[in-house]
Amino acid sequence: TILYGVFGDPIRHSKSPVMLNRAFEETGLNAAYAAFHILPGQLKDAIKGIRALQFRGVNVTIPHKLEVMEYLDEIDEGARIIGAVNTIVNDNGRLIGYNTDGIGYVRSLKEETGIELHGKKVLMLGAGGAARGVGYALAKEGAAHIYIANRTREKAEELAQSMSGFTGVTGMGLDEIADVAGDVALIVNNTSLGMHPNVDSVPMDTTLVREHMVVSDLVYNPMITKFLRESEARGATIHSGLGMFIYQGAYAFEYWTGVPAPTAAMREAVLQSFN
Ligand code: ATR
Repeated sequence: TILYGVFGDPIRHSKSPVMLNRAFEETGLNAAYAAFHILPGQLKDAIKGIRALQFRGVNVTIPHKLEVMEYLDEIDEGARIIGAVNTIVNDNGRLIGYNTDGIGYVRSLKEETGIELHGKKVLMLGAGGAARGVGYALAKEGAAHIYIANRTREKAEELAQSMSGFTGVTGMGLDEIADVAGDVALIVNNTSLGMHPNVDSVPMDTTLVREHMVVSDLVYNPMITKFLRESEARGATIHSGLGMFIYQGAYAFEYWTGVPAPTAAMREAVLQSFN
């Protein structure tokens, strides 16, 4: 049996074991994936344990995505630019770190909405860790300009500055959204607004949403946030954050096994586990 796992704190509510074990089952691979509650002071030893126990792969989640980079043998270029690792591949004792969050997000967005990003303008709300990965992946996809609007304007400007080598980017405050929103093909919520239990908050004024837009939310609890509900009512195509979770796992599965991920079965397993 080939071993896999996820390291995080908290970890009890992780849907990764259910999703990845279904993927192994579906593809006939003899493997097992478990959740490990790793406290911040234990991360270094836990990473050593990957080699000692010969795990083939590990996912890393909150709060370890940054610190883990210190303990790996090699960091993939995308993960280095984003500054965070969520997937480790153990290549015969050599640990390589990847970031599949941003590319997982884009793959889900394209498969679920059919959007063509090349040459398009995008509005991203929020400038935290999630926004870094998503922004980098959107830039790689050929988005022509990315507006980053954040409550703390300076953080938006910093993120814009760090992405300026990949595409046109502008950082701004949340109060400046009205000036640019009319022009964009995609709006992405990278903030935590709307997440359970604060289900009544929205990250922007949705009267700015137009029919031709795709509106996407990284939040997946609830599955359809108030932001998405209001955007859909205005005729926009909506995209829920569950897809990002599924496809970050799909990429991890593919890096570990070389087998195409059974994404429909993975989605089904996650949806079943919500009930
Ligand atoms: P993550 O890793 O999930 O991106 P994060 O790095 O803490 O988490 O980022 C959270 C994002 O949500 C930030 O952009 C934050 O804005 P600030 O930089 O101004 O803090 C945004 N955010 C969180 N709560 C918010 C609120 N009540 N109103 C507006 N933005 C909020």
